[in-house]
Amino acid sequence: MQVYLDNNATTMVDPAVVEAMQPYFSEIYGNPNSLHKFGTASHPALRNAINKVYTAINASDNDDIVFTSCATESNNWVLQSVWIDHIVNGDKNHIVTTEVEHPSVLATCKFLEEQGVKVTYLPVNSEGIVEAHTVKSFITEKTALVSVMWASNETGMIFPIKEIGQICKDKGVLFHSDGVQAVGKIPVDLQDVHVDFLSMSAHKFHGPKGIGALYIKDSQPLTPLMHGGAHMGGRRSGTLNVPYIVGMGKAIELATANIQETMAKIRAKRDRLEDALLELSDTFVVGERDHRTPNTILISIRGVEGEGMLWDLNNGQIGASTGSACASEDLEANTVMLAIGADNELAHTGIRLSLSRFTTDAEVDYVISHFKNAVARLRNISSSFAIQKPTKGGEVQECELHHH
Ligand SMILES: Cc1ncc(COP(=O)(O)O)c(C=O)c1O
Repeated sequence: MQVYLDNNATTMVDPAVVEAMQPYFSEIYGNPNSLHKFGTASHPALRNAINKVYTAINASDNDDIVFTSCATESNNWVLQSVWIDHIVNGDKNHIVTTEVEHPSVLATCKFLEEQGVKVTYLPVNSEGIVEAHTVKSFITEKTALVSVMWASNETGMIFPIKEIGQICKDKGVLFHSDGVQAVGKIPVDLQDVHVDFLSMSAHKFHGPKGIGALYIKDSQPLTPLMHGGAHMGGRRSGTLNVPYIVGMGKAIELATANIQETMAKIRAKRDRLEDALLELSDTFVVGERDHRTPNTILISIRGVEGEGMLWDLNNGQIGASTGSACASEDLEANTVMLAIGADNELAHTGIRLSLSRFTTDAEVDYVISHFKNAVARLRNISSSFAIQKPTKGGEVQECELHHH
C-alpha cells in the first residue's frame, strides 16, 4: 500500500477536474480575448468557473476575483502593490504580519524591508496563532496593511480572522489573508468575515498546480504586478489559462459543495489517526483539534529526529513532511514549532500528516501500524546504537550516543 499524507503541500487532481479541463486543451483552445468563435467558445466555461469561485467564498458582485499563476503571485501582488499605492505613493510606512506566514509572504516582507518599509512580525501564542488583540496593539496610524494567514500550512491552526478583519475595518487599515490552507478545507464566507484581499491556490483543493486567484473586496484599486495586454480588466495581464481556470472552478465547487459533511469525514479519520499516535509515550500534537483544519496533525515524538522518521515512513511508502527544510548538512528545526516555544530538540521532531477527502480508513490503519513500528525502531537506534562519525582528520571514529 502507498499512502499520501502530504496534502497541505499539494493534492491529487480530482479525476473529475481533469475531465472538466480536457476539452480546453485541444478542442476549445482559442484565445478568449479573440473576437472570432474560437476565442469566444471558451467564454461560457470561463464565466461558469469564475461564478463557482464567487459562490465558494460567498463573494458579492461588487467584488473582484482575479486569476493568477499561484498563491505566491497573489501574495506578492498584494504586498508589493500596497507598498506602491500606500507607502511609496501615500503617507504610510508600516506592514503588520506574523512570524509564521508562508515564505511567499515572509520573503516579500523581507524584500519590502530592504526598500525601507517597517514590518512587524507578530509572535504566535503556544497554540501557534496570533491573537486579535495582539494585532490591534501593533496597528499605528502609519500601518498600510495587515497580512495574517487564515490557517497554517504547518499546524492547521485556524487564526481569528473574523476578529482581526473587524479590527482592521474599524481602524481603516487594509487586511489581507493568505487563505490557501482554508479555502476548500473549512467554510470561508466573505459576507461574514471582512477581508480586503484573499489569496487562493487550486492545487491545495484537488485542482491543478499553477493557478490561483486573488479576491479583491469592492473591486478596490490595486496597482497590477503583471503589466501587458490588459487581460482581466487590466488587473492581471497574460493570456487567460482557460483549462486551468476551468479546473480551479470545478475543484472549488467539488471541495465546497458539501463542506460540512466532507470535513466531518476527514476529521473522523484524522482524529482516529491522532488518537492512535498519541498512545505512544512522549508525543504531543500542536494545537487544539477544534481550532485546526480537519485534515492536519503536526506531531512531535521526543527522541525521534523528523528527517529520520520521514525516511522510515518513505520506506513504508508513506509520504509525509517535516515542515523543516533539510539543508545539505544542517537539519533545520521546524520554525513554527520554535515560534510556539518548543525547545530546539523538540523542534527537530515535528512530523506533519495532512489528509484529504481521498484518504481511506484502510490507509489510516496502515499508517498507524507503520508509524508505531517506525517510532520503536528509531527510538531504539537513538538510545543504543553506536554511530560512525568522521573526525576532522577524515578517519572514522566510533562514538556512543547517550542513553536517555
Ligand atoms: C499558506 C500557503 N500560502 C501560500 C502557498 C503558496 O501557494 P502556491 O503554491 O500556489 O504558490 C502555500 C503552498 O505552498 C501555502 O501553504
